[in-house]
Amino acid sequence: RKRLGIHALRKMKNEGNPISMVTAYDYPSAILAEEAGIDILLVGDSLGNVVLGYETTLPVTLDDIVYHTRAVARGTSGTMIVADMPFMTYGASREHTLLNAARIMREGGAQAVKLEGGEEIADDVKALVNAGIPVMGHIGLTPQSVHQLGGYRVQGKTEEDAARLLQDAIELEKAGAFAIVLELVTEQVAAQITNKLSVPVIGIGAGRYCDGQVLVFHDLLQYSSPYFEKKFVKTYADIGTTIRGAIEGFVQDVKTRAFPAEEHVFQPDSRGPERLYG
Ligand code: KIV
Ligand code: NA
Repeated sequence: RKRLGIHALRKMKNEGNPISMVTAYDYPSAILAEEAGIDILLVGDSLGNVVLGYETTLPVTLDDIVYHTRAVARGTSGTMIVADMPFMTYGASREHTLLNAARIMREGGAQAVKLEGGEEIADDVKALVNAGIPVMGHIGLTPQSVHQLGGYRVQGKTEEDAARLLQDAIELEKAGAFAIVLELVTEQVAAQITNKLSVPVIGIGAGRYCDGQVLVFHDLLQYSSPYFEKKFVKTYADIGTTIRGAIEGFVQDVKTRAFPAEEHVFQPDSRGPERLYG
């Protein structure tokens, strides 16, 4: 399959063909999501929450993202990979922004980077695009600013807030962003921004009228324990329960010596496996 590029995404918006995006942080999840036909894989800094066990995304480092992007890239051949620039790896200076994005592209193997913020990062976005690095914007609830925002609140509720979001989206598009993520925004404001922009708007908790939808891998699969229900998430499988049950079965089998059974053991005339993994 041919890897989707930024022009194909714009075409999808124009043709009313919704864009699907899911996060991925490692090799097997990337393989499975690609096999499932996902349009874009996002190596999100939600990595910090769902894989590394942090409270927020702030502790995620550039090395973390590069390392996980590399694993995702090894599992894919036809899916666009976008990777998040972590907290404070952009916006401090133009040089840092460019060199940090370059590591994500060159060492990680991403085709694009995603940055949180609006008008205030437009110059950074412009510099990246000028350097040949496609940028996905991210506005609305921006988790890297959770302490400034004062919590995980729905954005765009007041007229003033809605106007600011629209202005941010327009500035990002002008700066050259090829798409924008809208997170936790009222449906009406998300629809307005989607209509106003020429580039695709991909929503999470942003209602039905965006050009695409993104969910966190572990959310849509309930791949966690305890799992927290979120209003904006639809869960498609309960992998947490499946995994726990399977490991309980293994523990039980070991305790009762039901595993290994005769078919699992080597005798002098047995052959080994062709390969150990994969
Ligand atoms: O890190 C992430 O998973 C994200 C998505 C929620 C858009 O940024
Ligand atoms: Na993110």
